[in-house]
Amino acid sequence: MKIRDVLLSEYGRTSSIPSPVNRLMTDFAVGFRDGRDINLGVGYVNEQTIPNQQIQLACERVLAHPKKYRASLNYGGAQGSPNLIESLRRFHIENRIGGITEQILNSRDIVIGANGATSLLESITHVLPTGIVLTADPMYYIYCNDLERKGFSVVAIPEDNQGLDTGFLKAKLAALDTERSTIRFFYVVTVNNPTCTILSNNRKRELVDIVTRLSSEVGRKIPLFFDNAYRDLVHDSSVEPLESALCYDELGIVYEVGTLSKILAPGLRIGYLIGSKGPFLDSIIQRTSDIGFSAPLINQEIASYLLDNGIEAQIEKVNNGYQQKAKQVKTWIAELLGDNVQECRGGSAGFYYYLTLANVATGSTSDFFKFLTRTTGQEDVDGPSDFQYPKVIYIPGEHCVHPSGEMVEVGKRQFRISYGFEEPPQIHTALKLMKSAIAYSLQ
Ligand SMILES: Cc1ncc(COP(=O)(O)O)c(C=O)c1O
Repeated sequence: MKIRDVLLSEYGRTSSIPSPVNRLMTDFAVGFRDGRDINLGVGYVNEQTIPNQQIQLACERVLAHPKKYRASLNYGGAQGSPNLIESLRRFHIENRIGGITEQILNSRDIVIGANGATSLLESITHVLPTGIVLTADPMYYIYCNDLERKGFSVVAIPEDNQGLDTGFLKAKLAALDTERSTIRFFYVVTVNNPTCTILSNNRKRELVDIVTRLSSEVGRKIPLFFDNAYRDLVHDSSVEPLESALCYDELGIVYEVGTLSKILAPGLRIGYLIGSKGPFLDSIIQRTSDIGFSAPLINQEIASYLLDNGIEAQIEKVNNGYQQKAKQVKTWIAELLGDNVQECRGGSAGFYYYLTLANVATGSTSDFFKFLTRTTGQEDVDGPSDFQYPKVIYIPGEHCVHPSGEMVEVGKRQFRISYGFEEPPQIHTALKLMKSAIAYSLQ
């Protein structure tokens, strides 16, 4: 008898094919030549922002104080280390992060994810039924891809320079008509990935208002998740201080997802969720237990120590670095790409620029992409096969906009570049190559 291959679930089947962005990044990473190729595609933080010595010191202190940091190399509890939860509470209250007060946090809980904010976002997909998820377009493609593989239907609402366009959202909700009852949650990234557009306080307030009304209309609380991954990386002092949506939340539908990845180190894998106590948060805690009991306790205790000792200086240092890079890169974009750039988002927070080119396609089959990845097939452009010219990778807009959303067409001329990971000289070289890639595309 013929034996068929392992029987996969629908999720297993869709996951057995790597996502387009994963494929792109893997292909590039395989042949990556250090010191020659330039990766503006990854969301890696800048290595110089990671406080190696403080982390080492924190680890020593944690291990040297077993009374406070109990059994830190043992298993941890599923909600998270009590030390870390207390440190996060204090961090938010003492720094009045987004205007958060003790009173706001009293009716809320903080839970720590098994593996960064990503694991919390992933957990949400397991404890909420499938249905419609509303988000901004361009969207955080990693999570939206996960949602769609799990059977959710992502509806992406275009953003403008203040974030998700609430006028558009209202029209979309009206058009959804009876389907509104299948809306499961909203997912909004406060400093968006890929665009780094900052969601303005007005928009945030309007969003809470819209989702509060919608909840009354359907007779069920619809959670509104704000992903604050880059919230602490606003490095432009002219930006209004960002308020926490928890301040406007009367119904208890707002949840904020945070991470220490961008301000300390992604390798610590510390992400947290703040929201109303109740069955939803309890289910997330159980899910954390199911997938790995807890984040590594030692990492949680190290993070707690770092939050209690000098986090403000660390955040300032990180932001100074990105601020300088943002300014420098912006000048180079203007100098080198000039009028070919129709729109440029970002530069005030996080570490991405999101560009729209006037009339050059950027997708993975475009001349622009092929020039930069040295896959034109022409030796004079790609270089000799045994020593190709430097390659540059970026994230094409076609992967960032929703395939059935309003931005599909413009997305074909857009791309995200990161100024996080690579150092300025490499970014400069990459932008010079992009200038040549534009000329090649237009010839
Ligand atoms: C919008 C957004 N959310 C979440 C994450 C992941 O956070 P973590 O490292 O805590 O899993 C990222 C990482 O780049 C991100 O861009």
